[in-house]
Amino acid sequence: MNIELIKQKSGIVGESEEINQVLEMVSQVAGVDISVLINGESGTGKELVAKAIHTASMRSSKDLIIVNCGAIPEGIIESELFGHKKGAYTDASESRKGYFETANKGTIFLDEIGDMPLETQVKVLRVLETGEYMRVGDSISKKTDTRVIAATNKDLAKLVKEGKFRQDLYYRLKTVTINLPALRHRKNDIRLLVERFALQFSRTNKIKYKGFTPEAIKVIQKFDWPGNVRELRNFIESILILEKGERITAEIIEKQLQNEKMMEFSDNPALPVVVNQNPDQAERELILRQLLFLRQDIEELKLMLKQSDFSILNSPRNIDENFSNKIHDNEFGDFEDKTLLKEQAIGSFKTTDLEKEMILRTLEYFNNNRRAAAKSLGMSERTLYRKINDYGIEKKINKDN
Ligand SMILES: Nc1ncnc2c1ncn2[C@@H]1O[C@H](COP(=O)(O)OP(=O)(O)OP(=O)(O)O)[C@@H](O)[C@H]1O
Ligand SMILES: [Mg+2]
Repeated sequence: MNIELIKQKSGIVGESEEINQVLEMVSQVAGVDISVLINGESGTGKELVAKAIHTASMRSSKDLIIVNCGAIPEGIIESELFGHKKGAYTDASESRKGYFETANKGTIFLDEIGDMPLETQVKVLRVLETGEYMRVGDSISKKTDTRVIAATNKDLAKLVKEGKFRQDLYYRLKTVTINLPALRHRKNDIRLLVERFALQFSRTNKIKYKGFTPEAIKVIQKFDWPGNVRELRNFIESILILEKGERITAEIIEKQLQNEKMMEFSDNPALPVVVNQNPDQAERELILRQLLFLRQDIEELKLMLKQSDFSILNSPRNIDENFSNKIHDNEFGDFEDKTLLKEQAIGSFKTTDLEKEMILRTLEYFNNNRRAAAKSLGMSERTLYRKINDYGIEKKINKDN
């Protein structure tokens, strides 16, 4: 497949020497059944390139299974990848297929491979070398014919030195490596990307779109876009929402970029950065954050009380007078059922609702990119993954898509 066709089919936009080289490589490796490692900063388009390879390959009529190795809890990653036999765990009442089995004849995309546990890496190496694997709890090897594409934004060589990534798997994977350049190193792609994102977004949302002035594009090109293409896309979309139907000028861009920079250097880098909002929204956001902090404090307090087995209730003199008064006035809620926060205190919200809301918004802001959302929320990807399950957010995301 030539690179123009790959661009068309994959939606990869760009005309720079750098992106053309990437696509040249995609075109060369797609048809050959060889594993590929995609390396690049967050938001540079690793997933898009993985999809492009699959689409341009002979396997395109079969499945491409995407696995985010960083988001799956360590305890279940092998059963997810290789499946398990009935009875392998106490709650494994049925045998289950793993991704390598489902992806047979197709492609598996192991995203964030740098986060894969070492023991699992051994088993992946075996699949790469022989096509063989075993379901968890089974003693019979199975065979799969799956093409592996892996991606990471980490420096795997460094992880190898630190003993966090297996050298043999690294050597096996790195033979064909596609390095995705950061957006700041291919700034002449920016004009096309802006046009594409603006058109797509205004069409799907039925927003009037009168284009960007050439000066506006120049200002966008000067910015370094640390979050790469993803950040650029979010930026363009929020500009279009804010400036509905206006022609976008350099002044508008400068103002928004300033906001963006201010948010970047704000006191709380761990919190979601919500740019381009009116003062009302900003205030609501602020209140929400404060409530979240309150929630964290309360969780800690609960833990403290639990650990001390509520003994402080029996010796109020040991604790701050104010606090003990509050306890006696029952201002923290009912100790009998160990609920420390009265729901009335925060209106109709439950504390868990707040967290759920925060997670939903953050995921939405980062286009469901869990790694970025987890980082922004200040929690590990695994914790986020668990919370998504606990709150049943997954269904909502899927439904909305
Ligand atoms: N060259 C490109 N042309 C068009 N869209 C792009 C391009 N590169 C990236 N994108 C878009 O930018 C967003 C991020 O891309 P993608 O998810 O592939 O990045 P990533 O490298 O996997 O990021 P992360 O490491 O954070 O997972 C997506 O919405 C994708 O469609
Ligand atoms: Mg990705």
